[in-house]
Amino acid sequence: MERRDFLRFSGMGAAYALLAGSAPFLLTSCRKDRMMDMGGGPVNVIEGAFDFPLPIPALSNGQGSLITQNTTHSIFNGKVSKVLGYQAGSILGPTIKLNSGSTVNLNLQNSLSDPTNIHWHGLVIPANMEGHPEDILQPGSSFNYNFSVSQRAGMYWYHPHPHGFTAKQTFKGLAGVFVVNDAEEQALNLPSGIFEIPLVIQDKRIFPDYALDYSPQMGEVMTGYMGQYITVNGVYSPYLNVNKRNYRIRVLNGSNARIYNIGLSNNASFAVIGSDGGLLAAPQTVNSLILGPGERADLIVDFSSYLLGTDIFLINKTFSAGEAQGTQEFKMMKFTVSQNDTDTFSLPGTLSSINLIPESSATKTRIFNISNAGMGGHGGHSGMSMKGMHKINDKIYDPNRIDDTVLAGATEIWVFDNSTGDEPHPMHIHGMQFQVLDRTGGRNVLIPTENGWKDTVMVMPKEKVRAIMTFHQNKGKYVVHCHNLEHEDDGMMLQFEVV
Ligand code: C2O
Ligand code: CU
Ligand code: CU
Repeated sequence: MERRDFLRFSGMGAAYALLAGSAPFLLTSCRKDRMMDMGGGPVNVIEGAFDFPLPIPALSNGQGSLITQNTTHSIFNGKVSKVLGYQAGSILGPTIKLNSGSTVNLNLQNSLSDPTNIHWHGLVIPANMEGHPEDILQPGSSFNYNFSVSQRAGMYWYHPHPHGFTAKQTFKGLAGVFVVNDAEEQALNLPSGIFEIPLVIQDKRIFPDYALDYSPQMGEVMTGYMGQYITVNGVYSPYLNVNKRNYRIRVLNGSNARIYNIGLSNNASFAVIGSDGGLLAAPQTVNSLILGPGERADLIVDFSSYLLGTDIFLINKTFSAGEAQGTQEFKMMKFTVSQNDTDTFSLPGTLSSINLIPESSATKTRIFNISNAGMGGHGGHSGMSMKGMHKINDKIYDPNRIDDTVLAGATEIWVFDNSTGDEPHPMHIHGMQFQVLDRTGGRNVLIPTENGWKDTVMVMPKEKVRAIMTFHQNKGKYVVHCHNLEHEDDGMMLQFEVV
């Protein structure tokens, strides 16, 4: 048996013990040749035939029940994969769609053999409803998620958040889209109905029997777990027939660790109209857009000028983000222009009003040092455990510790400092939306989605990002963490309390 195989089969904890003799050597270097041996190099994507029609998840009004369960789903055309679902026969949960001001009343039944819960990513709701990593449902139990949604229109999402199981459960299929509508957005008459398309992009890895394979090796806890197969809305290599008109395409990067630099194969430009927390003030035209794990982008893509029969692919363009990502351009799905249409839509010059929080209103600045995450980092010893290679302010997550106490209603600036780090970290704050003030180092600029409300922000190697936020009145405990889900489960998460 080769060492690589041995590591794989012996489980990560055992693998670390086996390598203990060489641990100092490992701990002082993340060099690619050594990383590769334990997994953790770039995982190249395998493109398919783009012959599977794109499914659109069913709609839910936020009432009823969800049952986490082992089930099957056709991810690959003609094959059956073992996955996790919120309902029988389906990967991904329903798209919950409601108007701001509505109430969610959903019973979650846990029929898995591990604990689970639902975190409502991006929603500003009471602490006991939002899916804190310690608010979990043991196997066989159920919980009623009951809360009202009063925030602005936007595309939010939901996924499990039981500490230590988040990555595996999300990877295996538990995630869903949560769309909030409001009158302001309604008045814009954006493309809607079958012309408003949610795209949940996730990369998957499979066993020979097509079951989803979640088995990160040590190096993959470092880089995050990536798959060779890009799925959109739960299927590999799909296509969508489109009319000659504008489409509203709402993209969620629901991947554990993979970052995408979204583009179109003909290099056409498209308009960015919204971000994590809803519409931007004005559209911005781009021909590529970085989307990290957990982030969303609301796009208008105009297919009206193409000849019938034209194929245009949604692609990932290369980008710079450390050694394990961005090295390959690949196609993710195909749009085939297949029908004439008359389209009267024209993009409004103004979409929304966003009141910028003045920097002068902040009463406190907190620094979150995320540079020392990683094997090359200094800091505490985690012994023979696989845990704790990723830290924030030199700490790993401890549910019994409150790292930061903030006052309800206060405005603060939070700084994510990766200025000496060499891994990308999508940083996410629970239970709120923030505004990004600036980025220094690395790219040195804000990208279009960062001019709107955000709950997750990409902090690339060498970057320092400042965000400003006003804490709500929902008192209680929340977490701030890296949304690379392997980093998160590894402990790259701190707890704050709103008092
Ligand atoms: Cu989408 Cu705490 O996560
Ligand atoms: Cu969240
Ligand atoms: Cu990270």
